[in-house]
Amino acid sequence: MTRTTARITHLRAAGVSFVVELGDPLPRVLHWGEDLGELTGDDLAALGLTADGVVLNNAPDDARRFTVWPTEADGWTGTPAHQGHRGGVATTPRPRLTGAREGDGELVLELADEVSGLDLTLTYRLEPSGVLTVRTDITRPLRAAGEDATAGQDPAPYDLAAVTTLLPLPARAGEILDFTGKWCRERAPQRGSLAYGSHVREVRRGRPGQDAPHLLTVGVPGFGFRSGEVWGLHVAWSGNQRWLAERSPEGAGVHGSVLGGGELLAPGEIRLAPGDSYSAPLCCFVWSGEGLDGLADRFHSLLRARPAHPASPRPLTLNTWEAVYFDHRLDRLLDLTDRAAAIGVERLVLDDGWFSGRRDDTAGLGDWTVDATVWPDGLGPLADRVHGHGMEFGLWVEPEMVNLDSTLAAEHPDWILGPSVGLGGSSRHQYVLNVAHPDAWAYLLKSLDTLISRYGIDYLKWDHNRDLNEGVARGAGGRDRPGVHAQTEGVYRLLDALKERHPALEIESCSSGGARVDLGVLARTDRVWASDCNDPVERQAVQRWTGQLLPPELIGAHVGGPRSHTTGRVTDESFRYLTALFGHAGIEDDLTARTPEELDRLGRWVALYKEVRALLHSGRVVRADLDDDSTLLHGVVAEDGGAALYCWARTATSAPAQAGRTRLPGLDPAARYEVRVRDEAGLPALHQVSGPAWFTAALSGWVPLPGAVLAGAGVPLPTLDPAQALLLEVRRV
Ligand code: DGJ
Repeated sequence: MTRTTARITHLRAAGVSFVVELGDPLPRVLHWGEDLGELTGDDLAALGLTADGVVLNNAPDDARRFTVWPTEADGWTGTPAHQGHRGGVATTPRPRLTGAREGDGELVLELADEVSGLDLTLTYRLEPSGVLTVRTDITRPLRAAGEDATAGQDPAPYDLAAVTTLLPLPARAGEILDFTGKWCRERAPQRGSLAYGSHVREVRRGRPGQDAPHLLTVGVPGFGFRSGEVWGLHVAWSGNQRWLAERSPEGAGVHGSVLGGGELLAPGEIRLAPGDSYSAPLCCFVWSGEGLDGLADRFHSLLRARPAHPASPRPLTLNTWEAVYFDHRLDRLLDLTDRAAAIGVERLVLDDGWFSGRRDDTAGLGDWTVDATVWPDGLGPLADRVHGHGMEFGLWVEPEMVNLDSTLAAEHPDWILGPSVGLGGSSRHQYVLNVAHPDAWAYLLKSLDTLISRYGIDYLKWDHNRDLNEGVARGAGGRDRPGVHAQTEGVYRLLDALKERHPALEIESCSSGGARVDLGVLARTDRVWASDCNDPVERQAVQRWTGQLLPPELIGAHVGGPRSHTTGRVTDESFRYLTALFGHAGIEDDLTARTPEELDRLGRWVALYKEVRALLHSGRVVRADLDDDSTLLHGVVAEDGGAALYCWARTATSAPAQAGRTRLPGLDPAARYEVRVRDEAGLPALHQVSGPAWFTAALSGWVPLPGAVLAGAGVPLPTLDPAQALLLEVRRV
């Protein structure tokens, strides 16, 4: 294949290099990873010169290349960049580069494919955080301006089967980490070797799910939180998805394997007529030479740099769910509100149960008006009391869902997403509303808009409690069309429209606790409810791994009652407090059942949260690599390194009697520090007689300890009883 001498583009940011050779017929990525420094034209040419591998025996006669749009035309036998057909033909795309422009950290490639008749635009943006975002836009163009739209064109739509955004990885990346999970055990890590073949994660729930891949990471074997070279991918999309890491014996050009992602499209879901277009989900690729903390740091920086990132101190929240469930009695809720205000709560959220017919979870979804029997005077008396205390008022909604036992379902059965032959089974007694239906969408916007305006709602807890099984939009004569893509876009439009009308409104992505945690929904929401599980033993893990993508201020973390409602485990107050402290903290408990002493202690914790949230919500998240899986040491270090908070936690007993010298991650070994124990949230029960000596001293004040000891040699940490945690504060002197 003839190829011209190519121009080479080099994007650099925050220690990352991305080098693309703008060759003919297609560009290829020469390098994505560690910063290669300031490269001259000759240096870049040398990179290009060394970008071809060997011609293998019994193989294509040109060295295989891995391009930005890999197809079979290159001899590529892995997952192609796109698949589709036009009425059964045009199945072998062969795009060519038609234009390229670069500037301001961005490289835009224009490709045209005569076979499929599609124009493709790839936008690579290396963000200041070092995260490389890739946007893919596909258009089926109108052939000539001014002509009849379809003149001269095959009128059959182009059925887009799959679009996968792919980037190459070096052969040394041989270990894979991603996530799975279930309700109340979200983001459970799974790790193993990157074997030959495809590691594919397909999400068919119409939401990322409790078992979402979350962040697909491949690294040099042995990578940890603090060290190792790692490459990761997040697909920023809330509908169906496909993520993969793929390794073949002949590699991908000179690279060893590939990382890719996109939307999982149903057959026939995207059919492009002339003039139509499709945008694939934004794929966020991230590299770090500093382990998983390095990856997390880049994502946190990316998110914090957004103009709409929540900037105000994250209000201490009380959510009513585990306090009252469906028992909505005004006097009880007013009492709860008063007690919340007295201990310093700043936002009160009225959870499920307030709307028409909603006395339990079998009825009412869809009828977004206040239940007149339970709330004869509307929500005003509660909203006014909340606002009167200077608190924000939040309300639970689940706009995308409907119970068959509702006025909405009775009046608009055609608005329900599901096949014409009859709806399938319910889930949590509910079905999905077709948000892409213009009338359903308009109804939701009007209902929510009215509520927000009437009650001065500051915050919506936006739930979504079921998968989108058989997510088809009903059509005349049984011509049902796949609807998950349109549903996802419809929800995004709804969120955007509400934010536009109410710029100060904050929205939480809840979804059964943690089933819609993605950067697509977070582009228009302000935090996630990470899990319905408030049991701190479980929560330590859920928050740790949710934090792999999201900074603490976006992760809702609430203190529950002594006995967890979801696991039945009883835990000490201080462990619950310290676990919830490291997120956007709140309370999920019936304060009317707490003694004055308990409320007093809760108030001290609230004050502690308010004192330290500026640090927790702006600093770098650090996690120590420990041999003992039953212990966790994590913290947040201020950007300037001058202050830090650490949580030393034990979830279970373990064989080692003591941790021994342990390094506090993220500190400067050359700096001088002092350390103290913070006891406002209580102190842990210890599984030891006494010591270590520095800890005993730090219980009553600052203890000077140099960085050489804290971050270099390490300090012995006390042995905690199971389900206990300790809070350490460090500051530079
Ligand atoms: C699921 C959520 O995760 C809970 O916090 C609560 O809001 C319930 N739904 C209410 O139905």
